[in-house]
Amino acid sequence: MTKPILKADGISIAFGGVVAADNVSFELAPGEIKGLIGPNGAGKTTLLNLISGIYNTSSGSIHIDGVDVTKVPAYKRARMGLARTFQTPRFLHRSSIINNLLLGTDLADQMGYINSFFGKKGSNFNDELEELMEIAGFTFDWNDSISTMPFGQQKILEIIRAMLEHPKIMLVDEPAAGLNDIELQRAMKLMELATERGCGIIVIEHRMDMVMNFCHNIIVLNFGKVIANGTPEEVQCNEAVIEAYLGRE
Ligand SMILES: Nc1ncnc2c1ncn2[C@@H]1O[C@H](COP(=O)(O)OP(=O)(O)OP(=O)(O)O)[C@@H](O)[C@H]1O
Ligand SMILES: [Mg+2]
Repeated sequence: MTKPILKADGISIAFGGVVAADNVSFELAPGEIKGLIGPNGAGKTTLLNLISGIYNTSSGSIHIDGVDVTKVPAYKRARMGLARTFQTPRFLHRSSIINNLLLGTDLADQMGYINSFFGKKGSNFNDELEELMEIAGFTFDWNDSISTMPFGQQKILEIIRAMLEHPKIMLVDEPAAGLNDIELQRAMKLMELATERGCGIIVIEHRMDMVMNFCHNIIVLNFGKVIANGTPEEVQCNEAVIEAYLGRE
């Protein structure tokens, strides 16, 4: 089997009495699209926060490309090739679209901003941006304020922003929320392009049509616990998953 680009081994976190991640283990391969599903409050976003280093795990370990990052802060994990999007897009709303893209994924990291500004301003950055914008079907002026973009387009723009980092791992929180079918196709095309370039993706999504057709493998969470982990076919007929999440139909 290919060496995993990301590995979580028994990671956990509790908030007060709520165990939001309970001994979670999985591996993500380069080029793999792994769906993360489960009922509201199951701990999906929390798991992304643990992987990206926003929260610290109270047990277990996380490895990126074979390196133990369990105690490594979020901005360093970002530099190691981990990019993410948020359930609610996070942009500087008074700033232009292009400035938001140049700012990169890590709002807290000022050095990252400077590095990305000088590193990306070259011709490759422009070509790449053009390519991604075309796949996204975006025609607006990059100098427009970000606040002129509808929510759905902001969600796609976050994927583009993440891809411009050339990540090895992308964590994508509910990309389909607020997207119409055409926009969703475009978002999936962007993510597929990232995987063709070797990026492994974890995507949280509630739209089952998308999850079942788009993901290679699926993890199902319930009350912070992994209740199933397998291919879409396997997960769909899993009794515990049907009970907790999919329902009988
Ligand atoms: N920072 C926090 N402080 C306290 N409780 C938290 C925090 N973050 C998450 N939780 C709790 O952990 C549990 C899991 O929340 P999480 O946001 O990870 O769920 P989710 O699966 O992403 O849900 P949704 O589908 O609604 O986005 C919930 O009970 C939530 O209230
Ligand atoms: Mg969530």
